[in-house]
Amino acid sequence: MFSFGIRMDAGFRLAGAEDAEEIARTVQENLGGELSPKKISASLVKEKLKDKKDVFVVAVTDGKIIGVSRASFEDLDLAEIRWLAVEKNYRNKGIGTGLVEKTLEALKDKGKRKITARVRADSLVPLSIFSRLGFEKEGYFREHYRKGVDIIQLGKFL
Ligand SMILES: CC(C)(COP(=O)(O)OP(=O)(O)OC[C@H]1O[C@@H](n2cnc3c(N)ncnc32)[C@H](O)[C@@H]1OP(=O)(O)O)[C@@H](O)C(=O)NCCC(=O)NCCS
Repeated sequence: MFSFGIRMDAGFRLAGAEDAEEIARTVQENLGGELSPKKISASLVKEKLKDKKDVFVVAVTDGKIIGVSRASFEDLDLAEIRWLAVEKNYRNKGIGTGLVEKTLEALKDKGKRKITARVRADSLVPLSIFSRLGFEKEGYFREHYRKGVDIIQLGKFL
């Protein structure tokens, strides 16, 4: 269990298959609409956990998962942070930042050289978290995944 400069009693750890249900619920409830119409199911999470091409980090308080980060291996030493979600009641306490810090540490341990993240251009909070952790804007995609929604790609070298 790790705890970074966060403003509540929570810990961060790599996820295991036993966490799939809670991860699916947390992501579906806090990020679902953003991602795709298809439901984020526990079986999808279990599949991703099994194929070892993803790193899942969870934030836990009182034994309950309150935040999730998922990064996928894109290439030899390149990975992308794809999911970042914290339960509404636990936001603005440093959990989101802690999840990204722990994910970067885990990806460094796995020999990754560069990490990217794609964020809605109007999502100030995740943009401020990634910028504060040393990510730099490196791409702007107009109405990329959705009509009316621009995307910023950020990148960081480990
Ligand atoms: C994005 C998200 C994960 C952040 O989680 P969090 O635990 O609240 O993040 P943190 O507390 O670590 O950091 C939030 C920072 O944003 C700042 N912040 C909060 N509201 C803000 C706002 N409206 N405008 C700008 N900054 C804001 C906070 O002050 C905090 O900075 P600080 O640590 O200097 O105080 C969470 O808001 C979430 O799940 N959102 C819905 C899903 C989503 O958008 N995910 C990102 C996809 S890339």
